[in-house]
Amino acid sequence: MCGIVGYLGRRDAFPILITGLKRLEYRGYDSAGVALRNNGHINIEKQVGKIAALEQLIGDKEMNGNLGIAHTRWATHGEPNQVNAHPHSDSNGDVVLVHNGIIENYDSLRQMLIEKGHSFETETDTEIIAHLIEEFCKTESNFEDAFRAALLELEGTYGLALITRHEPEKLFAARKGSPLVIGVGEKEFLVASDASAIIAHTRDVIYLEDGEIAIISQDGYLTKTIENEVIEKAIERVTFDLDRIEKAGYEHFMLKEIYEQPRTVADCMRGRLIAEEGVSRLGGLNNILHNVVRARKIFITACGTSYHAGLIGEYMLEEYCRIPVEVEYASEFRYRDPIITDDHLVVAVSQSGETADTLAALREAKRKGATVMGIVNQVGSTIARETHGGTYIHAGPEIGVASTKAFTSQVTALSLLNVMIARTKTMSAEMGRRIIQEMQELPEKVEKALKCDELVQEISHVFKDRSNFLYLGRGYNFPVALEGALKLKEISYIHAEGYPAAEMKHGPIALIDEDMPVVVIATKDSTYDKIISNIQEVKARKGRVIAVVSEGDDKLKGEVDYTIPIPTTFNFLQPIISIVPLQLLSYHIAVMRGCNVDQPRNLAKSVTVE
Ligand code: G6P
Repeated sequence: MCGIVGYLGRRDAFPILITGLKRLEYRGYDSAGVALRNNGHINIEKQVGKIAALEQLIGDKEMNGNLGIAHTRWATHGEPNQVNAHPHSDSNGDVVLVHNGIIENYDSLRQMLIEKGHSFETETDTEIIAHLIEEFCKTESNFEDAFRAALLELEGTYGLALITRHEPEKLFAARKGSPLVIGVGEKEFLVASDASAIIAHTRDVIYLEDGEIAIISQDGYLTKTIENEVIEKAIERVTFDLDRIEKAGYEHFMLKEIYEQPRTVADCMRGRLIAEEGVSRLGGLNNILHNVVRARKIFITACGTSYHAGLIGEYMLEEYCRIPVEVEYASEFRYRDPIITDDHLVVAVSQSGETADTLAALREAKRKGATVMGIVNQVGSTIARETHGGTYIHAGPEIGVASTKAFTSQVTALSLLNVMIARTKTMSAEMGRRIIQEMQELPEKVEKALKCDELVQEISHVFKDRSNFLYLGRGYNFPVALEGALKLKEISYIHAEGYPAAEMKHGPIALIDEDMPVVVIATKDSTYDKIISNIQEVKARKGRVIAVVSEGDDKLKGEVDYTIPIPTTFNFLQPIISIVPLQLLSYHIAVMRGCNVDQPRNLAKSVTVE
């Protein structure tokens, strides 16, 4: 939520900040703003709406300066308008900052500051930070001390970038609970919420940890704890390419990411399958291997799409490893005091590795003694760093707010974990080899599933104006139904529900009439006959059925409105293929309805607030 960029160097900061913001726009797009230091002044420009609106506002105005900060916002405190847009400043415009996170004690701090004579222009929690620093400037001997003293008063989360007339040659940054990366270039430095805003300029980065600050000047940078202890931070190298965060000729990031799936599924498995032995290897788990394979119980905790991947993980780990598994929304898990002991394994699944609820859930599990592992996409993210061990899904940057390739890679990673654990239990080498072979064929099968695109476009055209959809699946395809419904909701704003097909008769069946499209995942597996009966129940009530079926299965042709044939595989791997037509369906319907596919309203890619 919210994207931050800062620049200090010899070049013009403005274009660097704007391009950086555009890379971070997935983190929020309610308003945007920029502040540049020039000749002793700090110029601030901000605008409601997207970064393009900010650019329009600025037009031909001169935006000079080689030190600046910028922000794209996902509103938490205060409605998304121009006044509430960041950057925010203190009473005299001496301290100007951008913030990602939530200050939980802002109300009491605000009251305290009002009593001291401060007045506020905005409804944001961020503005109080600038005023608090201003207040400490009156008592502390230098600006840095005032900055740190103010940070010590803040409860909640922040990623901050700040410029000030008190120290006009410096860029300040601080982190607690919201990600912040520093790019170290040739005589220039950047600060950003993630490395995608930095890599056009340098691949050398430093990840700030919670409770750390950075003071950056032309001569270099200094990292410290908020308590003033100097710390040496290692410079890490970011390896992903720029073209992986650009659209590469596709109309939208989401479509590009859907089409990337044959490669991303392969990337997730690369070097991790040992065909001859029928086993998988996950190097990131080496240190905790014993605890992983011997866990008496597994919790999977996640949010949104990652939660749906977790549900598939539950089914496979129980079936093959015979370990009891519970999947829980991270937001529930963290507050309900689950029974966790030190022989439990908690798996946090997260694309961004920054989701606040998932992070809090894993910290809670750690506190209670569980072994905690991550299944994460964003390399170097907080969840990746705070877990005892884990596995990266290697899907590359996912920019479209609706998650697609991360989902298939998460299921792939869970499948690798499944085989790894199952082979230490009862799974035979022969079975392991058969699974590995199936897994190796997955990229090709996903590629084949993408061939349904034209048919799906035709179907989308027919149903695009409906206001409700029902998605049904059984077994491993039930979470696929949930995920298909979520995709449609997220980007086309059509109400959609996913249900286990058999549950339909306990409620949703009442909704079915000739206006209700019902998407059924009816690939050939052990529940096939049952799902055919469920389809009959829908047809008997005149529902319109779109069935995702196994290639070569003509049984439903003529019986339902549309069949979408896709390749099949082992049941537990099937979701990686079954989800493809549903992703495309939501994409095309959203495009046809004129929706902003990559940046749907009210959503953000990385939800770093509770
Ligand atoms: C947000 C995104 C979803 C994502 C969820 C969990 O709601 O819009 O696409 O599934 O967060 O995010 P994570 O990064 O933890 O997977």
